[in-house]
Amino acid sequence: MTTSSTTATRRKPRGAPSPAGIFLRGFVKHPVMVGSVIPSSNKLIRKMLSRVDWAETKLIVEYGPGVGTFCRPILEKLAPDAKLIAIDTNADFIDYLNATILDSRFVAVHGSAADVGTIVADHGHDHADFVLSGLPFSTLPPGVGDMIAAATRDVLRPGGAFLVYQFNPRVRDFLDRQFARIDHDMEWWNVPPAQLWWAWKD
Ligand SMILES: C[S@@+](CC[C@H](N)C(=O)[O-])C[C@H]1O[C@@H](n2cnc3c(N)ncnc32)[C@H](O)[C@@H]1O
Repeated sequence: MTTSSTTATRRKPRGAPSPAGIFLRGFVKHPVMVGSVIPSSNKLIRKMLSRVDWAETKLIVEYGPGVGTFCRPILEKLAPDAKLIAIDTNADFIDYLNATILDSRFVAVHGSAADVGTIVADHGHDHADFVLSGLPFSTLPPGVGDMIAAATRDVLRPGGAFLVYQFNPRVRDFLDRQFARIDHDMEWWNVPPAQLWWAWKD
């Protein structure tokens, strides 16, 4: 599905930093929170999103969008009446996303994934159909990973899923404590190779 009528990506003004430059600057400022110096590859994005049921998706939430590597491919697939809420703790990334992705279906929110329930309700929704995470789970402060996994299970509708990509396999422990059915795959064409999980709310 093409959605060019709803999507407009503003051009980078001459002399403004590139997405890679903004991402690198974010990593240098907050290395533990950003967790990786290289944005996700196209192969990783395609594989991670391949199990989203787009026809049944009215709201997708993304945690840790960074400079929007996943946001644009999601908006290409998203129905015209659906929404994408992207949540990041880094205000520079949020300002960059809201300035460059001009799409009525998109909003970038400065906040923590742990507050997803409140953020979703504040935007007029009872639940999310799918939630995607690029968070560096294993380096989050103690307790935050479990809080985010529990808040995600609560916000998802039955039949929805938590989509997680990470380089460290220990993220599985956070998912196991909240979700009974979890699919796993790898994407080797990424730097570094990534673990992919789809944790289903049955
Ligand atoms: C590895 S980067 C994700 C990069 C991007 N999604 C991609 O595919 O290239 C991790 C992101 O998580 C954000 N982050 C860290 N802790 C967070 C939290 N508790 N809630 C929301 N975002 C968070 C960081 O600011 C950073 O943008």
